Amino acid sequence: MAEVIIVESREAAGALVADAIVRLVRGNPEAVLGLATGSTPLPVYEALRARVGELDLSKVRGFALDEYVGIDPRHPESYRSVITREVVEPLGLDPRRVRVPDGSLDGIEHHGSDYEEAIGEAGGIDLQILGIGTDGHIGFNEPGSSFASITRVKTLTQQTRDDNARFFDSVDDVPMHCITQGLGTILRARHLVLLAFGEGKAAAVAGAVEGPVTASLPGSAIQLHPRASVVVDEAAASRLRFAEYYRYTYDNKPDWQVL
Ligand code: PGA
Repeated sequence: MAEVIIVESREAAGALVADAIVRLVRGNPEAVLGLATGSTPLPVYEALRARVGELDLSKVRGFALDEYVGIDPRHPESYRSVITREVVEPLGLDPRRVRVPDGSLDGIEHHGSDYEEAIGEAGGIDLQILGIGTDGHIGFNEPGSSFASITRVKTLTQQTRDDNARFFDSVDDVPMHCITQGLGTILRARHLVLLAFGEGKAAAVAGAVEGPVTASLPGSAIQLHPRASVVVDEAAASRLRFAEYYRYTYDNKPDWQVL
């Protein structure tokens, strides 16, 4: 099962995951990061930013999880723009080493397989940062997504469009389609780090960590992964049946065993 770490704040979660990334990059300056967008990963990027002076991230390679289809890449809410603004520029990554799935309509039939090929050529993803949607999606793999799926076009659920309306002028401006790494793609990353904060995520987190493994809750795919870490605040952990055991496990974690 996943290792579940319940922390007191988003900042604490960000610091913990940033530490894992720092260790990874110290060991391999060309490490490959799987980058998530949305509100959830921001504390990780903020914590990393505070460490930029002591760490050179310029050789790190990055692959974003997803992108909207048909959005102008210069739109401030395209994930290309978000990754540039939140990750590449503040952390000093080389933009040529960071890819976002191509959501342009021209050639959309092969953008997914091109992306898979690029991830393969980079040697695969070392550490994949994940958020989780209120409907249980990871990446933009909505309920029903195959556990074997690769990067492809999906239709967003209305729930996801409503959740993401806060980034746009209105819900009608949220694109209907996306291109996302598949669950199969995500499961091939060597380490999954899923973060979630707030009561609104509690049901999705409980389903992902403790529920049946089912395509109806795509986040439950993490139970199939040999190395998955779930970092949540108290509110997001509030529906976990074995929360006490997770705390006990973490409190008694051997020093040599890091995130
Ligand atoms: P959020 O989105 O981080 O903005 O809550 C998570 C997700 O949809 O994966």
